[in-house]
Amino acid sequence: MSVQFIENKNLFILSCAKLSYAFYVDANRRLVHLHFGGKVFGEEGLIQQEIRKSHSSFSPWAAGEKPEDSVDALQLEFSGFNTGDFRVNSAAVQTCNGSRITDALYVSHRIYKGKKRLAGLPSAFAGDHDSVETLEITMRDTACELEFILSYSVFEECSTIVRSVKAVNGTASPLVLERLMSAQLDLPHTGFDFVQLSGSWTRERHPERTSLRSGIQAIRSVRGASGHQNSPAVALMAHDATEYSGDVYGAVLAYSGNFLIEVECEQYGTARLCAGINPENFSWRLAPGESFETPEVYLTYSGEGLGGMSRNLHDFMRRHLIRDGWAYRKRPLLVNSWEAAYFDFDSAKLLGIAESAARLGIEMLVLDDGWFGVRNDDTTSLGDWFVNTEKIGDLGELVRKINALGMKFGLWFEPEMISEKSELYRKHPEWVLHEPGRRRSIGREQMLLDMSRPEVVQYLFETISNILHSANIEYLKWDMNRNLTEVYSDVLPPERQGEVSHRYMLGVYRLHEMLLKEFPGLLIEGCSGGGGRFDAGMLGYVPQIWCSDDTDAMERILIQLGTSYFYPVSAIGAHVSVCPNHITGRITPFATRGDIALSGTFGYELDLTKLSEEEQALVRKQVADYHKYHHIIAGGDLYRLSDSFKVNAFDAWMYVSRDRREALITAVCRFCRPNDGVRFVRPRGLDPEMIYEVDGMQISGATLMSVGIQVRLNSDGASRIYYLKAL
Ligand code: DGJ
Repeated sequence: MSVQFIENKNLFILSCAKLSYAFYVDANRRLVHLHFGGKVFGEEGLIQQEIRKSHSSFSPWAAGEKPEDSVDALQLEFSGFNTGDFRVNSAAVQTCNGSRITDALYVSHRIYKGKKRLAGLPSAFAGDHDSVETLEITMRDTACELEFILSYSVFEECSTIVRSVKAVNGTASPLVLERLMSAQLDLPHTGFDFVQLSGSWTRERHPERTSLRSGIQAIRSVRGASGHQNSPAVALMAHDATEYSGDVYGAVLAYSGNFLIEVECEQYGTARLCAGINPENFSWRLAPGESFETPEVYLTYSGEGLGGMSRNLHDFMRRHLIRDGWAYRKRPLLVNSWEAAYFDFDSAKLLGIAESAARLGIEMLVLDDGWFGVRNDDTTSLGDWFVNTEKIGDLGELVRKINALGMKFGLWFEPEMISEKSELYRKHPEWVLHEPGRRRSIGREQMLLDMSRPEVVQYLFETISNILHSANIEYLKWDMNRNLTEVYSDVLPPERQGEVSHRYMLGVYRLHEMLLKEFPGLLIEGCSGGGGRFDAGMLGYVPQIWCSDDTDAMERILIQLGTSYFYPVSAIGAHVSVCPNHITGRITPFATRGDIALSGTFGYELDLTKLSEEEQALVRKQVADYHKYHHIIAGGDLYRLSDSFKVNAFDAWMYVSRDRREALITAVCRFCRPNDGVRFVRPRGLDPEMIYEVDGMQISGATLMSVGIQVRLNSDGASRIYYLKAL
């Protein structure tokens, strides 16, 4: 049983393979947090909060309760607003008299097998795993019939707890949600480091680790997308925790729009984490009887350091978030036309690339930007999803020719955008997200469609479907190259304008749902100018996301390892591109570019017709490596072997198959240091008692993990992969 209710103590214990989570309903019907961390056995010793902290009159208590019951000093699962808990909180709701006071108490609970999916939002699924159980707790406001249903789904095998909240307006008047966070987590002390993945376009998800301090530390987005700048996920690491040991908590928000994850270290020495939709510029009007569901948060804990946290989350997302088993499935090995040709192509050029690709064992051609409308640069035609026949002739015929080579075909779209120079804009200028009478902001000469309008989503569904039905298209790349500004929808009344960003996101998710229903086998790759929308929300619809427009292999080390903190490697879009690299101008050996792209979905992004004989031989080897090692990389356990918080002269990481019979180590020398001595890489996660064959030697797992493998890499950008196989 993963959810236990101990009635005589009003105590809930949620149990996973490697963690426990416990809280209870106190005498005042508050949900008091007790424990989240290492596994507990039995309930004795859990309720110790009877000895509550002493505090002052500045931490008020409810009339009729005792001073020590002050909500300002309790560790709580859910906290309202303006009734004495002055920390960051779960909810603030405006009622019809204008009050924002919110204060909810426990009413009832239920426990059931499995997990419900959220309507219109990405959500984890139980699949056929019997062990998944859900606890739903109903809380009610102390002054009105506003209910909050707190949901905890326990994914026992993956040591992950999925939380979300649903607000139900049981009153006779409309209410306005001004803040409704998906999860609140009160930790008993502040001795943690805050780990975030931050950066910029072409420099996404670089890990940062800073000590928590008094006050609030937060990451957020108001861009209408999760953004390149901060990924909606954090880890809290005990100060002494490392990659391999110590307490680490992970919180990942499954949402792709405006988000907020904040941690407040408060006066009594605890740390409160809240994660959810960013309340800035957000409000949601709930008519009587209506409800609102928040996105989900995936919470995990590991006593085995940051690596343990990542492995829990990878397992969970691969099994319970990414659809249809795609996480483990081999994706067609592709070549993408973008860096190969940008806008400069015709059908002859594409066929040339496809022919070279087929000869080299590559399985799919993806035609990127520039095939539609009259788009020969990035100034026109977004929204005009019809084929530019002058440029590529008949799409069906082109695809047939590519298929005849034994290759699949994929196509790029940027559904959410509209160019001013487009047929669509001429017909529907009102579909642009804008405020009438105010000047608009432009990014890459493009504007956003108002995805909160159902007719816009319907238009996109129909036009994209027409193209997908017109030819054998097996893959779609969904791009998004700018963020939201002038967030205002012409069709919503003034009091609903705070809903636009979230409605925009719901429109994006809806379009995904509609396309996946119409084209069940379709492989969609997410993208937003590279990794501007790489989040667990998108992974609820797409199994892979283009990780960065920076395809420089050396840069990719940090980007990919950072991304791997929270997201599985099989979701990370990674390609071999040409050198000098188009973003950095750096030159890296072809073999290294392949070794690094292998730690992702793997593919190419260059003009294959221009490769030398030697490079072609390397492509053949890389293609063979992809087929040989895919199951270990996509399905195995990841161990980061070097310090992924910084740029190192030397990096290494590895994957171990779940049965521990195979492993793959990647080692890269970024900067060569002459006479630097002998370097050993110590593998992790092997079976100490198994004998592994590596580099022609037979060595026990124990020796390998204690002594390591001697790695000789003595030039800038050199790399090696080592395959370990148990005898
Ligand atoms: C940004 C993407 O990240 C690139 O891969 C490419 O698809 C371009 N957009 C096309 O405009």
